[in-house]
Formats: sequence, C-alpha cells, structure tokens
Amino acid sequence: MPCPAKRSRSVNSPAASTTTSGRVAQEAERRRTFAVISHPDAGKSTLTEALALHAKMISEAGAIHGKSGRKSTVSDWMEMEKARGISVSSTALQFEYGECVINLVDTPGHSDFSEDTYRVLTAVDAAVMLIDAAKGLEPQTLKLFQVCRHRGIPVITVINKWDRPGRAPLELLDEINERIGLTPTPLFLPVGIAGDFRGLLRRGPDGVATEYIHFTRTAGGATIAPEESFTPEQAAAREGEPWETAAEESELLSATGQDHDQELFLAGQTSPVIYASAMLNFGVRQLLDTLVALAPSPGPRTDITGTPREPSDPFSAVVFKVQAGMDAAHRDRLAFMRIVSGEFERGMVVTHAQTGRPFATKYALTVFGRERATVDTAYPGDVVGLVNATALAPGHTLFVDKKVEFPPIPSFAPEHFATLRARSAGKYKQFRKAIDQLDSEGVVQVLRNDVRGDASPVLAAVGPMQFEVVTARMQAEFNVETQLDFLPYQLARRTDAASAPELDRQRGVEVFTRTDGAILALFSDKWRLQYIQKEMADLTLEPLVATAD
Ligand code: G4P
Repeated sequence: MPCPAKRSRSVNSPAASTTTSGRVAQEAERRRTFAVISHPDAGKSTLTEALALHAKMISEAGAIHGKSGRKSTVSDWMEMEKARGISVSSTALQFEYGECVINLVDTPGHSDFSEDTYRVLTAVDAAVMLIDAAKGLEPQTLKLFQVCRHRGIPVITVINKWDRPGRAPLELLDEINERIGLTPTPLFLPVGIAGDFRGLLRRGPDGVATEYIHFTRTAGGATIAPEESFTPEQAAAREGEPWETAAEESELLSATGQDHDQELFLAGQTSPVIYASAMLNFGVRQLLDTLVALAPSPGPRTDITGTPREPSDPFSAVVFKVQAGMDAAHRDRLAFMRIVSGEFERGMVVTHAQTGRPFATKYALTVFGRERATVDTAYPGDVVGLVNATALAPGHTLFVDKKVEFPPIPSFAPEHFATLRARSAGKYKQFRKAIDQLDSEGVVQVLRNDVRGDASPVLAAVGPMQFEVVTARMQAEFNVETQLDFLPYQLARRTDAASAPELDRQRGVEVFTRTDGAILALFSDKWRLQYIQKEMADLTLEPLVATAD
C-alpha cells in the first residue's frame, strides 16, 4: 500500500472541498508508526541513526549514536543512562519518507524497563524485530516478541550485522520458525555469507530472483551506501557462486511456502525478513520501503465499550508514557500521547477522560532525546509530548466531542520489592510529593499498608533498575536523599478484601493496597504461594496481568 500524496489545506485548492475527516483519513493513511524491538547491542541505536540518515534528517551517521567518541545519543537524558550506555526514555522520531510520514517510537533498551516497553508497544502499529546475525534470537527479543504477539502487532524482521561473521541465513530463519512459531518470509536474501556482505537478492513470486542490489561501503558507514541494480543474469556473471547460492536458497524457501503473504503478515503469522548491516547502511532503504509498502497505517482502536474509534473520527489520543526530568534545566513533565483519531492542533482544548476536566494543549512537542520541536498539527499515528501535563498518566485518554475512553494499559507483574524512606525526617513532605509523582508517571508501582505507614512505602518493580531511577530522581529533582531496603518477596498476586486478613496472617506473606486500589499479596517465594493455594483454596489469588507470558 503506497502512501497517498499529501493534500493541500489551502481553501482555494480543489482539496478545499475535502472534509476534515477526509483529510484526516488521508493523513492517517500516510503514517507508519513502529518501534524496534531487540536485545541490547543488536544495533537498535545504529539502525535508528541509519534510518535518520536515509530520511535526510542527519547528513552523517554519528550525530545520534553515542559510542566510540561520537556525539552523545539523542535519546540519552539522565546521567545514569550515559554511564550505563542505555536509553531509559521513550521518545519518537518522525520523518517524511517519500509520500509517507514515519514515526519511530523509541523503546528502552534494558530488560528492567520492559514495563515501559510494553506501554510503548501500545502506541505502535508495527514492530521491527532486530536480530544480531551471529547471536540469533536472544532473551529480550523473545520477550518483546511475545508482547507483540499478545497485542497482534505485525512484525518485520531485520537480521543485522551481516557484514560480520555470523550464522547461515536459512539457519537463522529456522530458529525464528521453531522458537517463536512465526514463519519468516524473506523479501531479500543476502548475497555473500555473513562477513562478506555484497548485496541483496530481491525475491519475486515463487522465490524467483528479480533483482540484485549491490552496495558499496562508505568510509565508516557514515553516509548512505551507494546502490547499483543488476538483473539476475548480470548478478550471476558478476558475483558467481554467492549469487547462485542465494538464488537457490530463495527457491528452497518458496518450496516450503516461505513467501510473503500480506494477510498472514498482518495477522501476525508470518514476518517479512530483510538482511542488513545498520552500521554500513546496507538494507536500510529496503527496510524503509518495506515499512511503506507493507506495514499497516493507523487503524481503528476499540474503546472500553467495545466501539471502534476510526482514525477519521474527532480527535482522541492515548497517553502511553509520562516522563519528568528529561531536561534538567526545565524540570518539566512530559506526557507522550499517541493520536488515535482526528486532527490535533496545538492550543486546542481537549477533555481528559479520567477526570472530565478540560486540558489546554498550548505546549505540544515532538521529542527525540534532547531535540525538541513544537508541533502545530498532528494526525493519527503521531506521537506528541504535552508539557507539564501533571494530571495525565499512562493509559489515560484525551478526546474532543463525543466522550471516548480507551482501555487502561495492563501493568506487568512486579518481581522486585523494596521499601523507600527519606534519610532525613525533615524531608518528609518533599518525599511524599516525589513518590506521588513517580507513582503517577508509572516509574514504579507504589504499595502501602497500615503497618508500614506512609513514611516508608513499598516500591514494586519489574526490574531493579527502576529503583535506581527512583532514587536518582528523588535526589536530582526533589533534593531528597533516600534509603532503599530490599524486601524478601519474589512474587505478587491480586487478592480481595475478604481474603486479605487471612493472607496477612500467613508467614512469608504481606498484603498491600496499590495506588489504583488493587489489593496485592506478596509472597516470599513460589513454594509459599503454592502451599497457600493448596491449603486455603477458598482464598482469592489471581495472577497479575503478565503480558509477556
Ligand atoms: P543497541 O542500541 O541495540 O544496544 O545497539 P547499538 O546500536 O549500540 O550497537 C551495538 C554494537 O553493535 C555497537 O558496537 C555497534 O557499532 C555495533 N553494530 C550495530 N550494527 C552493526 C552492524 O550492522 N554491523 C556491525 N559490524 N556492528 C554493528 P560497539 O562496539 O558497542 O560500539 P562502537 O564502538 O562500534 O560504536
């Protein structure tokens, strides 16, 4: 599905007869909103940079990527991130590519932030699964893939680092097939083994090679790799054996039905595959063309009543991420929303579904790391950051006209628990304020019970690094030094008021209320949980939504 051409909004143009909803539908159709899911080090930052290079957002690779003495990556925002070389924040990169508008929503690289990543995945229409050619499927890739499957997000696979020695092309495909039950359907096959990447064979119907795209390296991969196109006959004469091997492999894949099928791809059963080198910019243009041609544009989203909100309906959006302290100089708090329907115009007054209150959108931004730009207009699929949106939390809905509310974003089951208190009693007020803010942003879950009181609430996290974010921000933004003490609990179950007293009496169990009102029982280990489930079968103990299972 190629992108439709952008329409003029001028009143004198023929397009003036177009209704707003017609214009919105057309703008929505031009959008491709996706995230890259990968294990740390598979090359996500390098690929992001390569995409920006192809979109002519940057003139030379190295402007974004932070390693090897290059300039710091644009998605870094905390000292901690810089120290660890990871990205904690989620932001979006938007660029035009041909007639299309591409939104790349950044996901945190570290598995401790999988809860954040899950929220980001509620904001995209497709995912690019990036795999290291030498390592194949890695744990974090698998986990994130499960989230995509759970949400029905179509996945395009990129096998990266083909310029380095790695595994055989078909072996990697088999691994995808066997371990995650997704049928890989390569659109391109590499010519040359891993470590000798010459170019790509384009697969046509029935796996017949239709084109050879030869790449030429540029110094350090800093600029777009020049491409030359050859016919299969020319390719055979030019490359010999490596071409013949790729052509044979292509036909073999067709014999096992591994050809692209758009319906199966959209249904999450197959995944188009591209072999690439993000570092050398090989295969990057092919990825962009694939996103444009195959990835879905924003579609309807079902609200809590089960009614679909169409992209052309009046404005609505879902907040999927709230982040404060991105800019140390401003101490601001940004709520990132993904537009579901309608046209967003900066300054419009929208309604916050959860409170029913009006919300003025005077300060609307696109953010990618430290780069910020004011957004005046945005459409379905776009990500907009709203400044100082204190009432907004992940999962919240904004709308105009007819009320709409989208389902909340489920949270991951926490597995790490710790108490937190201010080191100085004099800082209690700031401490309370900080906890409330971090809680509403979804940085950690906050649990309380009468015995422990409010001075030392229990923090519950999916990964322990979330605690580090809390203590670092307590210090940096609220000037509160804190003491964190880990608790000997390993898992949580949802219970109810009737079962809570009995559970609280058990050894190795403690009951808490989460800020959203959920009553959670924490268990020292799975054996204790199993024992109680067996001995006291009438007690309510339900698993929390564990989206990656
Ligand atoms: P991440 O965001 O997924 O964590 O990965 P990142 O892009 O930071 O890449 C991780 C490492 O892999 C980097 O090496 C990067 O240069 C390298 N890399 C990424 N894509 C490719 C590729 O297509 N081919 C090759 N050969 N390497 C690639 P590093 O040693 O950690 O950093 P640097 O010193 O190279 O910058």
